[in-house]
Amino acid sequence: MSLDTTAPAASQPDGFTAEPLAIPSSLGDASAESFHEMTALRNAVARETYRNDDFVLPAEVLLPGYEASDYERRDGRLIREHGRLVGRVLFDLPLTEDVHMAKMMLEIHPEARGRGFGAAAYELGERLVREAGRTEIRTWVVHREVDGPRIPSPTGVGDIPALDPAAQMLVGRGFELGQVERMSVLELGEERDAGLRGLRDGAAEVAGDDYRYVSWSYPTPEEHIDGYAQLKARMSTDAPQGDLAEDEQSWDAKRVREELESTATARGDQVLVGAIQHLPSGELVAFTELQRMADGTKRADQEDTLVLSEHRGHRLGLLVKAENLLAWRSLHPDVERVYTYNAEENRPMLNVNEALGFRPFISEGAWRKVLG
Ligand SMILES: CC(C)(COP(=O)(O)OP(=O)(O)OC[C@H]1O[C@@H](n2cnc3c(N)ncnc32)[C@H](O)[C@@H]1OP(=O)(O)O)[C@@H](O)C(=O)NCCC(=O)NCCS
Repeated sequence: MSLDTTAPAASQPDGFTAEPLAIPSSLGDASAESFHEMTALRNAVARETYRNDDFVLPAEVLLPGYEASDYERRDGRLIREHGRLVGRVLFDLPLTEDVHMAKMMLEIHPEARGRGFGAAAYELGERLVREAGRTEIRTWVVHREVDGPRIPSPTGVGDIPALDPAAQMLVGRGFELGQVERMSVLELGEERDAGLRGLRDGAAEVAGDDYRYVSWSYPTPEEHIDGYAQLKARMSTDAPQGDLAEDEQSWDAKRVREELESTATARGDQVLVGAIQHLPSGELVAFTELQRMADGTKRADQEDTLVLSEHRGHRLGLLVKAENLLAWRSLHPDVERVYTYNAEENRPMLNVNEALGFRPFISEGAWRKVLG
């Protein structure tokens, strides 16, 4: 069945049109024009959301993340007002796990808000998700602080401001809050290095001689690839998920190469994976990832961190993160800050991050709507 996106929705604002997202094969030719326009829109929203330039990305860095893989397909519509790009509604369709789900993103240019474009774009997005045969929408939204009532996380820890426009919009359309995440930032520098060394030494003493830190950049060395894949699979089940559990992901060496490494390499990312090896068994039992995109900023991202449950309680979380930050500092001394996301109820991980010096930056809601 094809979808007629020109058919007016219940209430479309004047001049509203929607066109399929075109993913160009190269950024140099005419077919890339709308992708460049979309990049500018995305960056305007990022500046407004984070109130800084740390999350502004060039088109070359964005494009590899849009290419279809065996694991995910991305689709969506660009929204125009009398021809001018004012928004986008995009969704990722997971292909191997969570195949009933669509992960949606909806953004309206800050100057075009409050005039019905968000509502019309959402309505179109939901129709497309239904047409793709998916029965649940998930979305992750940064909520700026607004005075007034709060919506509590169902986990019992964390809440978001009920009067924030995105929260109003989601609640009004039948979404439920599933979890609140805290985004935190760590400022790097020589003073921090001294603190990190102290934390590393203290943690290493508690962990003892059975554990040692190892690290690598992509491509992952053959000797570690199976252990890394196993840790990635456990990450999909062992990190707290609030009301938003996802299927266990099945990871193997091929998926590490094709899903993680090929996108990171195409984007020109710098990645440092740190892991803890349990010497008596030879197995990798903890890992953490630092990643920096070639976006010209001074920021890096703290990605996944996990200590296998059977090895918790030995300060391995603090050890692997402190070691990896110190190793990162000697490789990339120009990076000034690291951002990370944690579930508000994930006290053990927040304890580690707070000890390292991360401070809260912004709150994000994870939302779900089951389509009736
Ligand atoms: C959330 C967002 C998409 C709304 O876009 P918009 O074009 O301003 O939205 P609309 O004018 O169509 O209004 C849609 C709904 O948003 C809410 N809303 C919009 N402006 C609001 C405001 N100033 N205060 C409170 N709620 C507001 C209302 O619930 C409204 O629904 P209603 O028509 O039932 O009243 C937009 O603010 C945005 O892009 N924010 C940044 C990205 C983001 O948070 N995306 C996630 C949204 S799911």
